Amino acid sequence: MYSLSFNPIEKIDFAFLFIIGVSFFILAFITFLMIYFLVKYRRSKNPEPAQIEGNVFLEITWTIIPIIIVFFMFYFGWSGLKALRNVPEGAIRIDVKARMWSWLFEYENGKKSNKLYVPLDKPILLELTSEDVIHSFYAPAFRIKIDVVPGMKTYTWFRPEKIGEYEILCAEYCGRGHADMHSKIVALDENKFYAWLKEGGEHVSEGKALFENYGCSSCHALNGQKLIGPDLKNIIGKETILIKDGKEIKKVIDENYFRESVFFPEKEVVKGFDSVMPSYDGQISEEELDRIIEYLGGEGEEQKEVKGHEIAEREGCFSCHTTDGSVSVGPSFKGLFNSKQKIKIDKTIKTITADEDYIIDSILNPSEYIVDGFDNIMPPYKDLTDNEIKALVDYIKSLSE
Ligand code: CUA
Repeated sequence: MYSLSFNPIEKIDFAFLFIIGVSFFILAFITFLMIYFLVKYRRSKNPEPAQIEGNVFLEITWTIIPIIIVFFMFYFGWSGLKALRNVPEGAIRIDVKARMWSWLFEYENGKKSNKLYVPLDKPILLELTSEDVIHSFYAPAFRIKIDVVPGMKTYTWFRPEKIGEYEILCAEYCGRGHADMHSKIVALDENKFYAWLKEGGEHVSEGKALFENYGCSSCHALNGQKLIGPDLKNIIGKETILIKDGKEIKKVIDENYFRESVFFPEKEVVKGFDSVMPSYDGQISEEELDRIIEYLGGEGEEQKEVKGHEIAEREGCFSCHTTDGSVSVGPSFKGLFNSKQKIKIDKTIKTITADEDYIIDSILNPSEYIVDGFDNIMPPYKDLTDNEIKALVDYIKSLSE
């Protein structure tokens, strides 16, 4: 363990300088000897060449000296690597997800971003995973280059000492978008960093507190578990079978239904559950309910377009899709909605209309809906929630108006 003020950069730079220094010294020494011998043993002074048969002392010397030098190179390199693996206690953990072809950063409060925001002078622990192929997280300013391998969690750390932006690159060839797979480390002073972290995250934690304080969490799980009541994770937008007056009806849960069922839970009950929930009429304010809905993944009308754009940015869509109509690795988002597209299905080409269903399908199962003329390289985005997909689709639609 190192102290909080330690910075591995010094160790790595020392290893680098040592190797460069030794190499230059050897280069100069050999060049000098070559010139010296050329002059000293030139033919005009030494017409008869000498025949020398081995020299045990010299042979041992030129074997042992390089071994010692290489050993020191190894030692300094190894201590730099060790410094990057010994994370100081109290480091701030940030999850790094690599995928074709973007970086996603997730903070301890659940906030996500596509640039790596960090506070000044604090050790930052990065836990790296890959969703698809091998990538390599390369941040030259912090001397970090670490492979990100699918199915394996790895880690490293660094400590920013100056406010500013620093390059992040992918240093392992990972397909067509490899060269575009870059991002930035943004080092902010501590107060600014925490202000940034809270913004957008604040409502979430408030909604979370309300959800727990009102006791919702004792009957409703948020992780897919069936408790006394239905699981509420991403409930808004989910198609559900409800029992109304003893009859089954199918309904897509929207915010209105959600509000109603908080105030009048017995009216329409999700099939398979008992009608045991008490009414919260008069207990929860509309505003508090907004917070809870926000926490559960709902969102207000007016935020949709901005959010869709943010999600597209966060998910790295723009590495392959432009918004100005120009062709990149994939088709442009501009004018895509409701346009006619030729797609390849089982080698036959079919003309379809890029409507909402098509766009959703091609986010979830891109390989089945390849637009003619493009390669089948888009990864499926199965982790997106229904709401996020809806926001994305709305955003794509907005680019065709
Ligand atoms: Cu990711 Cu190259």
